[in-house]
Amino acid sequence: MTDIKVKTVSKPGSLPDESRLGFGAYFTDHMFVMDYETGKGWHDPRIEPYEEFSLFPAAMVLHYGQAIFEGMKAFRTVDNRIVVFRTKDYLQRFNRSAEILCIPRMDADLLEQALYQLLKQEAHWVPGRLGTSLYIRPFVIATDPYVGVKSSDTFKLFIILSPVGAYYASGFNPVSIKVEDKYVRAIHGGIGEAKTPANYAASLRAQVEAKEEGYSQVLWLDAAERKYVEEVGTMNIFFKINGELVTPKLNGSILSGITRRTVIEISREWGVNVTERQISVDELFEAHDRGQLEEVFGSGTAAVISPVGELSWKGRKIVINNNQTGPFSQKLFDYVAGLQYGNLSDPHGWVNEV
Ligand code: COI
Repeated sequence: MTDIKVKTVSKPGSLPDESRLGFGAYFTDHMFVMDYETGKGWHDPRIEPYEEFSLFPAAMVLHYGQAIFEGMKAFRTVDNRIVVFRTKDYLQRFNRSAEILCIPRMDADLLEQALYQLLKQEAHWVPGRLGTSLYIRPFVIATDPYVGVKSSDTFKLFIILSPVGAYYASGFNPVSIKVEDKYVRAIHGGIGEAKTPANYAASLRAQVEAKEEGYSQVLWLDAAERKYVEEVGTMNIFFKINGELVTPKLNGSILSGITRRTVIEISREWGVNVTERQISVDELFEAHDRGQLEEVFGSGTAAVISPVGELSWKGRKIVINNNQTGPFSQKLFDYVAGLQYGNLSDPHGWVNEV
């Protein structure tokens, strides 16, 4: 066990009204911080008050975006325990993003210890209503004050915590999606697989235009041919076609979602045939025309399972399952929520008590 120094706030805050949390607007009193320097490694792990910090205006992250982040969740179970879903899987992905962005590897055991210590300290900030959680945002930024392009020699790691409700204002209701054929999110050989700010910056223009046109999200296509489906908004995407569950195969430009993995694993356990493969928009529209496109949903940590009610592509619109949440999406949501809030037993060992 590493010794983590703690400096506490003099006046702790409190959890806002759980029915009005929204997503990502409130933060708890404390955060975890650690520094890196070439030659010295990661050092000085500490818990501090959540507050502003200083950076040089030349700090490399501000200019070239050398940064990574994660998004995980802690839940208050029905019997009042604090649990984190699939901690090790998220931390492993954090290190995979680090590798892609030339950020030095972090000790996942230390991060897990630090996270649980922080969560114990902030336990009163974990909401308990169904649909709420404490969103965990670990991130690393490059801090060298230098405006030449290179990989930084100094970094800062933070873990901040935010009590949240539903990610989308529409909650679990089906959303309408524009199939994006003008802009692309990521390319083969690029950094699409990493959880890094650049991928989210790349998504903003399409997202703004789609909103103006009345859609909630965009469905991203592959950059080379604009033919194959990649992911939706900030989520992975699943299609239930004639009883089979199909999701795009991970190819380096798609984010390797932990909720995606969860959906695949439990669907297989339920005896559903799950295929990870290339899937074209043409194929989807054809399946719809044959009456075989049964359900479409996104999966992500923030939104969990998000049903898609309408897909529009080049002026054509298809409505899925009468714009209603489908039974399979509902069953998945109920199962995942059942695990996270401690209503179901956890045969996979995904639920980690803090
Ligand atoms: C997730 O749900 O995993 C996300 O990445 C959403 C986050 C960017 C708010």
